[in-house]
Amino acid sequence: MAVGVFDSGLGGLTVLAALEKRLPDVPFVYLGDNAHTPYGVREADEIFALTCAGVERLWAEGCDLVILACNTASAAALRRMQETWVPAEKRVLGVFVPLIEALTERQWGDNSPPREVAVKHVALFATPATVQSRAFQRELAFRAIGVDVEAQPCGGVVDAIEEADMLLAEALVHSHVAALKRRMPRPDAAVLGCTHYPLLEPVFRAAIGAEVAVYSQPDIVAASLEDYLRRHPDMLGTGAESRFLTTGDPIAVGHRATIFLRRAIAFEPA
Ligand code: DGL
Repeated sequence: MAVGVFDSGLGGLTVLAALEKRLPDVPFVYLGDNAHTPYGVREADEIFALTCAGVERLWAEGCDLVILACNTASAAALRRMQETWVPAEKRVLGVFVPLIEALTERQWGDNSPPREVAVKHVALFATPATVQSRAFQRELAFRAIGVDVEAQPCGGVVDAIEEADMLLAEALVHSHVAALKRRMPRPDAAVLGCTHYPLLEPVFRAAIGAEVAVYSQPDIVAASLEDYLRRHPDMLGTGAESRFLTTGDPIAVGHRATIFLRRAIAFEPA
């Protein structure tokens, strides 16, 4: 009955931690494509191919349902995967829609026409590929009207986190937030649109200011998955064991994951 969780690297662990807390009886198989991280500087075709390969690996682990705990893959590849590639008996879900539903005060799966919402000025922090895809703006426009989005491509942040160079990552966050605030001085909400960024959430919060509501994905995605599994219990696949897989060096990846999640995590080669 396992569920697969995929990311280009370590960022999806922020989502995994929230999933484990919310759904303690569900085994999760995590796959980090650390050999190819970061995805955020790659072309959409390449992100599509890498994400499909990762999802197939998780299907082979008995995970009929895979969560793309990666905004870049969700933005650049998910729609094409769902329309052209995912077989009828499998599901691949992204992390964008639950976040946008929370931002626009909607219940899960409420597909009523777009309407005015409380937030008017939204600062989006994401990878260059996610920003370039404009997937966030597209999904938002299906649900809300009159929302101004200013997007900041946060080059370098994922690389620094993957290298566990948190001082560099912090400095980059400060400079990206300052750059965005020059264009949108008073956002009323900020979206951490990359699953690596919750590892720096206090830094984002301090840089953006206490008056700005910060939307971070882990808890939102966990609540949404709980609801989804209640409605679709048949999507729990045959896998029975929690595992951590990586396309990179399992020792190095496990070491960094242990630091980030503050508990011992052993990765196996994918
Ligand atoms: N955690 C991925 C995301 O949510 C990082 C993407 C990357 O590898 O650049 O976008």
